[in-house]
Amino acid sequence: MSEEHLKSSNISFKELNVDDLLTREQIDAIQDEILEQQEVVVLWADKPLFTIGAMDGQQIAGLVQVAESGHVNYLVHPSYQQRGIATELLRRAIAQARKGDTPTLYATVKESSASEKVVLSQGFDLDESIAEEGYITTNLYSLRLQQ
Ligand SMILES: CC(C)(COP(=O)(O)OP(=O)(O)OC[C@H]1O[C@@H](n2cnc3c(N)ncnc32)[C@H](O)[C@@H]1OP(=O)(O)O)[C@@H](O)C(=O)NCCC(=O)NCCS
Repeated sequence: MSEEHLKSSNISFKELNVDDLLTREQIDAIQDEILEQQEVVVLWADKPLFTIGAMDGQQIAGLVQVAESGHVNYLVHPSYQQRGIATELLRRAIAQARKGDTPTLYATVKESSASEKVVLSQGFDLDESIAEEGYITTNLYSLRLQQ
């Protein structure tokens, strides 16, 4: 989905200082709502490198966070999903990580999920299948940034 579309829906993107702008409780509240949709648990990084927010005015519509380990987590509030926000958040996170010295980005996603579509659209490759629970497989994807 194009950035123009995102602009027309008044979503803007900015780097967030999670400690200052977003409490753990606020992140958990967004996540709780998403978990009700039976999506995967988002594990926020212990050592975040940076966090980018998709903003609807002062409201956080979505977040992407890259950890020092290179692990990427992202989520979009249910009322803002399916508008290309996660795709744009990940695109921006990759661009920002390329400016630093993170060699590889990693994402853990459920097979055949919306989340998998997002990583595939940004060029991530399947690394390994890390867990199988019944018919649900969770995969580790990676994107090499530096040789
Ligand atoms: C996965 C998630 C981030 C997607 O956010 P989003 O902003 O709706 O994603 P986008 O709008 O960029 O959509 C990406 C693709 O997924 C598809 N998609 C998104 N939600 C979907 C849904 N509920 N059902 C089917 N397809 C869906 C979109 O149509 C799009 O497909 P396309 O590339 O063929 O057009 C969001 O559902 C979420 O927060 N899930 C819970 C957290 C999570 O799983 N995080 C990832 C692991 S770190």
